[in-house]
Amino acid sequence: MDQIQSYINEHKDRFLSELCDFLRIPSVSADSRYKEDVARTAAFVRDSLVAAGADHVEICPTPGHPIVYAEKIINASLPTVLVYGHYDVQPADPLELWDSPPFEPVIKDGLIVARGACDDKGQVFMHVKAFEFMMRNNLLPCNVKFMIEGEEEVGSSHLGDWIRANKERLKGDVILISDTSIIANDIPSIDVGLRGLSYVEVEVTGPNRDLHSGVYGGAVANPISILCEMIAKMKDENNHITIPGFYDDVVALSSADRAELNKAPFSLDEYKRDLDVNDVHGERGYTTLERTGIRPTFEMNGIWGGYTGEGAKTVLPSKAYAKCSMRLVPNQDSATITRLFAEHFERMAPEGVKVKVTPHHGGEPVVTPTDSVAFKAASMAMEKTFGKKPIPTRGGGSIPIVALFEKELGLKSVLMGFGLDSDLIHSPNEHFGVFNFLKGIETIPYFFQQYAELSKA
Ligand code: BES
Ligand code: MN
Ligand code: MN
Repeated sequence: MDQIQSYINEHKDRFLSELCDFLRIPSVSADSRYKEDVARTAAFVRDSLVAAGADHVEICPTPGHPIVYAEKIINASLPTVLVYGHYDVQPADPLELWDSPPFEPVIKDGLIVARGACDDKGQVFMHVKAFEFMMRNNLLPCNVKFMIEGEEEVGSSHLGDWIRANKERLKGDVILISDTSIIANDIPSIDVGLRGLSYVEVEVTGPNRDLHSGVYGGAVANPISILCEMIAKMKDENNHITIPGFYDDVVALSSADRAELNKAPFSLDEYKRDLDVNDVHGERGYTTLERTGIRPTFEMNGIWGGYTGEGAKTVLPSKAYAKCSMRLVPNQDSATITRLFAEHFERMAPEGVKVKVTPHHGGEPVVTPTDSVAFKAASMAMEKTFGKKPIPTRGGGSIPIVALFEKELGLKSVLMGFGLDSDLIHSPNEHFGVFNFLKGIETIPYFFQQYAELSKA
């Protein structure tokens, strides 16, 4: 199987130039102005899967953006790996902070710079190219199915229905996902947990119209001040979230598990230096790795209201708004948390204002097994290509569909990602290391080989 190295050497320029073609199509799922581009991107994924040798390649429409499905069944008695990924990307703004245009990929200093380079087009494309290699060399050892969706960044709201309608076709043994990170290029790791998400928007209304802040100021509730007070009360002096019942369902980790988690290589100094902060900030009694991996959070994502234009305007605004998200950990339920937040927020509101809470998409937390055949296969594959056994870690982000796959298909996932936390996903200048892209292509065929091998036993 060392053929994969020579295959990569021979084809890497083509792989990179095809990836750039993929990255050039602005598949921003959140913005309806890009609907046609999202559709073109689905067609690009379809065409690359066809070219790589997949059968039954299909663009499946949904009420939102389409899902690309493909498969290669070599023998019904062999195990089947379902590869999941997403071809949609986050909006590129703020555009002025990019060093080069987000949809004009450049390869510089070993980095592929473009929106979606790491999250998740680059990682999806590793699978397409690894599959191409296995097909062209007659090395595909089991069946494979691909489902590459176009709505992950907006909450995968139509994927649930599509899975339920396609249960038969999606029969398989494990889900393989590359949409997470490793600790460092010389410290491979595999996420064994993802946090859930509850996302809400709030609106606070004071007077029925914007007022002169001199004529009325001091006598009428200012919705911006009230909103700030309410938000400030969401955490106590220990940065513990004060929403009643918020922690009720959280499963506490044993001290042994916490000690294990904290063994992962992590330098607080480097972390602070990288972010240019003189200290970290978070829930008292927990380390940074615990705060992002195993503890739930309450974060403000945006807050606005009143006058924010040039100069000064003396106004007492009628309304103030905020978007808040809560990351959830195992056993918390996003609908319950959203309800607890809404009840608390409404209860807290003082006389003189009205509040409205609008829930957005949510998702459930997951932990993935480390004693499964698929995890072992991923671990062995990474050990083979990185020369080091990967460390199991807890990722702080969310891929809501993972819990849904488990619920609807009864399938566990393996989160074999190849990005780095420093890849600036969702930020200006997102990039993906050429090293990481090629390492993924190299590792994936070993995963298939090991998985097929271990499944026989
Ligand atoms: N790929 C990320 C999630 C991720 C990144 C997990 C890094 C672990 C490490 C995914 O595309 C993402 O951004 N998810 C969103 C949730 C979604 C509902 C918008 C997130 O985590 O905010
Ligand atoms: Mn992603
Ligand atoms: Mn993302």
